[in-house]
Amino acid sequence: ESIWAILPAAGVGSRMQADRPKQYLPLKGRFLLDHTLDCILSYPRIGKAVVVLSESDPYWPESEHAHHPDILRAVGGNERCHSVLNGLHALEGVADEQDWVAVHDIARPCLQHSDLDLLFAGLGNSGAILASPTRDTMKRGVCQADGSVSIEHTVEREQLWHALTPQVFRYRELREALEKALNDGFEVTDEASAIEHAGGKPRLIAGRADNIKVTRPEDLALAELFLNQN
Ligand code: C5P
Repeated sequence: ESIWAILPAAGVGSRMQADRPKQYLPLKGRFLLDHTLDCILSYPRIGKAVVVLSESDPYWPESEHAHHPDILRAVGGNERCHSVLNGLHALEGVADEQDWVAVHDIARPCLQHSDLDLLFAGLGNSGAILASPTRDTMKRGVCQADGSVSIEHTVEREQLWHALTPQVFRYRELREALEKALNDGFEVTDEASAIEHAGGKPRLIAGRADNIKVTRPEDLALAELFLNQN
């Protein structure tokens, strides 16, 4: 049984302050997204991958994966959840309703197969996501009248996790959950949040902390370091 992958890659990545979307920044002599796609496409249980690209994307044709036979393409939407939904629609007639779909940020190039093994072994009824337990003490802040922020209280850290990707759900359940969330005006921050909104309880699978999302300029150097270590 195949698992399908959806890779949202239609963001502009404004926090990188670069001349192009972050997925196309050079990383060890290739586009950042070529590392991510290598990891996904070389994993034996993943069949086809949908790459969701912005409508005006002049860089994709230069990717090493531009003509890869296992890649389907979809066009991105205004927000990430629209992009993922478009990716799901591209799998219509390809994926069965009960097939698993793994959504992975294209901006996480340091993903490792060992984490995919853990994730796919740990799928519950409502799917599962890679996550990492918080390391720092967590505070809830409260704004004061003078504009400063002070500590309201310390939040129990034991129960707090960073949500990473991949996030894996049944094809139909994810599509319906995203459609419902959009209909309800619910703010979808990741795929799991839409599943939770629909009543599902995805599992948290502790993944590697080096599966970072390249977001700010300094993250590129970190990603290079992590890739060199592996
Ligand atoms: O901006 P952020 O890093 O949170 O984006 C996460 C992922 O979602 C990125 O891989 C980005 O390309 C993708 N995205 C998208 N469509 C959007 C916004 C973001 O595919 N409208």
